[in-house]
Amino acid sequence: MNLLIRIFGLLLCGLLCESVKTLESDKRPVKKVVARAGTNLTLPCAGVVGEKSVVKIEKLTWKSSQTIIKFINGRPLEQNQRRSLHPKNFSLHFNPVKLIDSGEYICWINDNPSHPIDLLVQDVPEAPSRPMITGFTSRSVNLSWAQVQDPKNAPVTNFILEIRIGESGEWDQLSKLHTNTSNTSHQITGLSPFTIYSFRVLAVNSLGISLPSKESYYIVTLREVPVGKPVMTIAHNTSSNSIYLSWKPPPSDTIFGEFLGYRITYRARDVKPENINEILIRESSVESHEIHDLEIYTQYLISIQVFNPEGLGPATSVVVMTDEGEQ
Ligand SMILES: *[C@@H]1O[C@H](CO)[C@@H](O)[C@H](O)[C@H]1NC(C)=O
Ligand SMILES: *[C@@H]1O[C@H](CO)[C@@H](O)[C@H](O)[C@H]1NC(C)=O
Ligand SMILES: *[C@@H]1O[C@H](CO)[C@@H](O)[C@H](O)[C@H]1NC(C)=O
Ligand SMILES: *[C@@H]1O[C@H](CO)[C@@H](O)[C@H](O)[C@H]1NC(C)=O
Ligand SMILES: *[C@@H]1O[C@H](CO)[C@@H](O)[C@H](O)[C@H]1NC(C)=O
Ligand SMILES: *[C@@H]1O[C@H](CO)[C@@H](O)[C@H](O)[C@H]1NC(C)=O
Repeated sequence: MNLLIRIFGLLLCGLLCESVKTLESDKRPVKKVVARAGTNLTLPCAGVVGEKSVVKIEKLTWKSSQTIIKFINGRPLEQNQRRSLHPKNFSLHFNPVKLIDSGEYICWINDNPSHPIDLLVQDVPEAPSRPMITGFTSRSVNLSWAQVQDPKNAPVTNFILEIRIGESGEWDQLSKLHTNTSNTSHQITGLSPFTIYSFRVLAVNSLGISLPSKESYYIVTLREVPVGKPVMTIAHNTSSNSIYLSWKPPPSDTIFGEFLGYRITYRARDVKPENINEILIRESSVESHEIHDLEIYTQYLISIQVFNPEGLGPATSVVVMTDEGEQ
């Protein structure tokens, strides 16, 4: 269609308009103009140099797929606010230019076409769709999302993934992750076990970064056995057959599952490890315990560890001796 217009224009020109100098060398390539949506843009009319035309202009028309602006005998017609004609040099001014303005523009002077301008208006991509969680472990999550519907005339080069911890936390600006490819799935690693996360995606093209997608649904990463151990604060005999223990729990972010309580084990030092005694405290808020029915004046090896549904954490151990018998 455009080609037809141009061929037709050339034929006309050959017949009618040797004097229109700017149309002489139609072998020049189409002029390409790239603009960012929302900015002001001016397209020059190739037949006009400075404020003088090579020929006397009786009629001037800017056309793309449709007529945009006409100028007849010194009077502009079909002017609108967003697209206007400069009254002296007939440049076409967009205030502002939009994506839909992309296309081929030709400034016709006295019914002769000048060189076409190929206008490409680009913008940052549309926001991607909400990411879906397609798999997860205790420390990784696989995310997948749909290809961006409208990349706004500039291909999406990569994505940015944002990670949020907790149900109402901030989107941590530090934990942005660049995927570096246009793949619409990604495995996020280095997460913490038994932690609430949500994610959102931003698309990137040469113009910049889209708005963020809707956030994913929440996920709780899987449990792992605890890595934190209790700190023993007191461990001493209270009689010849009892020992008192007091401790502080490990930091909550080292428990990696529901904190179910403590396991205390003890045995006399010279007793075989198989004959160990066990006390389970199924209450995570307990921070002390007294062990009774011990041997008089005996060294005991005592350990304490936390547990969650996944299992036991590492143990803290002490050696305590019961007191001599007779008071
Ligand atoms: C576009 O030009 C108009 C005046 O013509 C001005 O008011 C406006 O700020 C400009 N917009 C941009 C994005 O430069
Ligand atoms: C036309 O005039 C306007 C305003 O003076 C100027 O900004 C623009 O660059 C001119 N265009 C050409 C092609 O000379
Ligand atoms: C996550 O995706 C990777 C491939 O990218 C795959 O090897 C892995 O098994 C997936 N993990 C889960 C939990 O689905
Ligand atoms: C993307 O590239 C940056 C810089 O090269 C790198 O630091 C980052 O780890 C890469 N991201 C991924 C997901 O590979
Ligand atoms: C992107 O996805 C394709 C197909 O799913 C895969 O073959 C390719 O290895 C992926 N590229 C990267 C860098 O992960
Ligand atoms: C038992 O405890 C008392 C008081 O804390 C202490 O004086 C005594 O030395 C302890 N006995 C042993 C055998 O450690």
